[in-house]
Amino acid sequence: MTATLPSTSLDDAEHPQVFTGTPSAGEPGQVDAHDVCAWFGDRLVLETVDLVMEKSKVTALIGPSGCGKSTFLRIINRMHEVVPGAQLAGSVKLDGVDIYGPGQRAMETRRHIGMVFQKPNPFPAMTIAENVLAGLKFSRTSPANKDDLIEESLTKGGLWNEVKDRLGELGGALSGGQQQRLCIARSLAVKPRVLLMDEPCSALDPTSTLRIEQTIKEIASEVTVVIVTHNMQQAQRVSDYCAFFLAEENQPGRVIEAGRTTTIFGSPTDQRTFDYVNGQFG
Ligand SMILES: Nc1ncnc2c1ncn2[C@@H]1O[C@H](COP(=O)(O)OP(=O)(O)OP(=O)(O)O)[C@@H](O)[C@H]1O
Ligand SMILES: [Mg+2]
Repeated sequence: MTATLPSTSLDDAEHPQVFTGTPSAGEPGQVDAHDVCAWFGDRLVLETVDLVMEKSKVTALIGPSGCGKSTFLRIINRMHEVVPGAQLAGSVKLDGVDIYGPGQRAMETRRHIGMVFQKPNPFPAMTIAENVLAGLKFSRTSPANKDDLIEESLTKGGLWNEVKDRLGELGGALSGGQQQRLCIARSLAVKPRVLLMDEPCSALDPTSTLRIEQTIKEIASEVTVVIVTHNMQQAQRVSDYCAFFLAEENQPGRVIEAGRTTTIFGSPTDQRTFDYVNGQFG
């Protein structure tokens, strides 16, 4: 069944409480996607995706262009519903709570399930420090000590040592790799349970890429990470689990195979997975 998504603002106004009884902010969460389907208009682009993204682990989503990886990621933090004509079916649970269930607010979900995009998007006219704190405004939280939070978040983002003496400079003045780590720090400042990353290194040089991968490994004990990547070496370096998406000709995207990264790359069960991870197509 196709679920027409509710108006976010109406939902927000009427249902103030969410995620009661679940771990507090800052603890890694588990995401369970069940029977997820997605449409743009009449076009089914993702079909019956079942995927568990384990707590405190890094899950990589791999597959050729157009197979629905970004769409799936957007469904996990309720960004899909802001696309005109987009619809979805199925359920997505964070620590057992359906993020699309009655009473769930999109903004609150996005605080618990943060997102880092392909292109670094710091606020260029804000300082480095202001950028780190920018997400707090939307989450309506006020830290006890902002300086401590800035240092903590930039340290987790792997950027502190490079910027500690220039926190008042503009975010837009940083290099691309530094801007991406600033965006990671901004996402971590609101203490999400899950961090979604959509090709976070695709615009970066190899050194910056390795730096971000190191950051991902360091934060994984505190936040569940789901990363989309076209880089097979990167998937193997950073992820514990891997899901291979594929949209065959005139078909919607599906998960062909998911499991431990070592298995997906070392001994996949499906020939299509083998061919993809060995560079035969895509
Ligand atoms: N806003 C949109 N409107 C209509 N169709 C869309 C929209 N966004 C994506 N699609 C379609 O949905 C399908 C999945 O797209 P998606 O961006 O999720 O793929 P992807 O796996 O992330 O690809 P890539 O690796 O190139 O980023 C594609 O066929 C795409 O054309
Ligand atoms: Mg994409």
